[in-house]
Amino acid sequence: MVIKSLTLKNFRNHPYSTFEFSEGLNIITGPNAIGKTNIAEAIYYLSLVRSFRGVDDIDLIQKGKERSEIQAVVSEGELNRKIHVLFDKQGRRVLINGKPVQKISELAKCVNVVIFEPKDVMLFKGSPKDRRNFLDINISKKSIPYFDLKSRYDKVLRERNEVLKSPKIDPVLLEANTEMLIEISDSIVNYRQLYVKDITDILNKITRALTGEGAKVEVHYKSFIEPGPNFKTRAKEAFKRAEESDFKQKATTIGIHREDFSISLNGRDIALFGSQGENRMVALALKLSPYFLIEDRDKRPIVVLDDVMSELDKAHCQKLIKFLKKMKQVFITATSLEVEGASYYQIKK
Ligand SMILES: Nc1ncnc2c1ncn2[C@@H]1O[C@H](COP(=O)(O)OP(=O)(O)OP(=O)(O)O)[C@@H](O)[C@H]1O
Ligand SMILES: [Mg+2]
Repeated sequence: MVIKSLTLKNFRNHPYSTFEFSEGLNIITGPNAIGKTNIAEAIYYLSLVRSFRGVDDIDLIQKGKERSEIQAVVSEGELNRKIHVLFDKQGRRVLINGKPVQKISELAKCVNVVIFEPKDVMLFKGSPKDRRNFLDINISKKSIPYFDLKSRYDKVLRERNEVLKSPKIDPVLLEANTEMLIEISDSIVNYRQLYVKDITDILNKITRALTGEGAKVEVHYKSFIEPGPNFKTRAKEAFKRAEESDFKQKATTIGIHREDFSISLNGRDIALFGSQGENRMVALALKLSPYFLIEDRDKRPIVVLDDVMSELDKAHCQKLIKFLKKMKQVFITATSLEVEGASYYQIKK
């Protein structure tokens, strides 16, 4: 995919900014706090239909203003789509080619962006939630049914937690919710296992391209129940065993919402043994890997790298740039950066 143009109105610190972007490398430069990450955020918003910074839509509206807009033209091969997102105090509206869309998943299907942000350096050392988000977002982009499965799971999980919080727990309702969770988990665990398997080869290739030959990366998916025969029976037993702690904590203490994965580099857990630079390079490789899993080249994501270069040494910078040049469209934000053949956008007050 290619984002051809972007206009921001009252979006964060941008009263009005408009850009015509190119294929290949787009470099967004400017001093600190000028609004570079805000541009990255607007681009990624179109893919996720929420901010990657985990804020509410209302915070995206420029302080003191009533409403905000993101307009973009995104192409998929020969197909151009005009996208328009409007925010105000009442909420958000999304239009594709002038027509309002009801389900946010409609927009998520039209725009695919992968992002690397500075906090991703902590992807392996940080909270499991960020790693699960990585899986959930990227599997959803690749396999449409996964998005619905995960939404259904979240809904049933909320219901089950409500049951556990009620003063007198209804055992019939609890069991019905448990059964439903297990039913959905069976598919989710299979999707996750398959995705991790699919990504491993690509992840190794990218890591080698970014760091040099010889690196070997393995992904260890820690499912709450091993996928395989009799999954449902084994899951049911596990839920039974967890019941006491569920009652005590008034929440569902096991399940796919507590799962995690770890990554080892040359046989050692990167979270425990990896250097800062290794964590950065492997996290970057992982974040880029979904790009190559999308078979249809026209649908491959737009790549956004926010402030990725600042901590890299010269050799790693050059390797990364060489690698990024193979991709259809890449955005890099930096206070300053020079790359031959790239398109430049200098952000000013
Ligand atoms: N809703 C908002 N209204 C007005 N200004 C905002 C809003 N949200 C954020 N800002 C401001 O936007 C400014 C620019 O933020 P941004 O993170 O995009 O900077 P940056 O160019 O990426 O800087 P750095 O190089 O330090 O990463 C910040 O000073 C912030 O206070
Ligand atoms: Mg920034």
